[in-house]
Amino acid sequence: MSSEDEDVPQLSAHTFAALQDFYREQEERESKEIQAKELALTGGVDFDENWQLSQFWYDQNTIDGLADLALESVGKNSKIALVSCPTLYQAIKEKAGPEAEVTLFEFDQRFAAIGKDFVLYDYKAPLNIPREKASYYDIVLADPPFLSEECLTKTAVTIKFLTKGKIILCTGATMAELAQRLLDLRKNKFEPKHKNNLANEFWCFTNFNDDNKKSGL
Ligand SMILES: C[S@@+](CC[C@H](N)C(=O)[O-])C[C@H]1O[C@@H](n2cnc3c(N)ncnc32)[C@H](O)[C@@H]1O
Repeated sequence: MSSEDEDVPQLSAHTFAALQDFYREQEERESKEIQAKELALTGGVDFDENWQLSQFWYDQNTIDGLADLALESVGKNSKIALVSCPTLYQAIKEKAGPEAEVTLFEFDQRFAAIGKDFVLYDYKAPLNIPREKASYYDIVLADPPFLSEECLTKTAVTIKFLTKGKIILCTGATMAELAQRLLDLRKNKFEPKHKNNLANEFWCFTNFNDDNKKSGL
């Protein structure tokens, strides 16, 4: 050993092992804290899109815009159902009042991370949802997974079951006529956009906004 080495305090093997354990546990604790904070902030919804499930997430402006459109229409302490639009959950929870109730009906079980507000939902079984939620929600926001007549027709059954009246539907422009026929919805001037641009033209439809009259539909 050189004289320089002799000047450096030496740890016993036992103390060195204990120190290593301490640092490892500290790292694990910090990593868990970061994960918990992320989960609390995002409501567990910061998940990658799964294209097998036709997941196309809104961009942040759209998330905020749709949350505002809904809350301005029904008030901050309302009951709000989200059908197949999970990224709206956290923004609406944050912007809504303390008495609000927000329920997410969604097929992707990763979103069960949000807890009691999650209801497992498959549009193919449109009324396989809790009976007590009939006409329960002041407003329903929906974004069905597929641009097909079958999917919108079945999702419309769920929407009609859940809502007391108001509806916001985001879907492809090609579904406009069916949305009007099934749910009496008209194009709203609000333009939903996605984090990753979609090839299809995508519209927002409502049954409560004066802008409807200007849309020409
Ligand atoms: C077009 S994305 C709409 C997501 C929305 N743009 C958002 O940012 O929250 C369709 C949604 O339908 C869900 N989905 C997929 N299969 C479904 C099914 N069988 N029944 C109900 N929802 C389904 C997807 O997980 C996804 O959240």
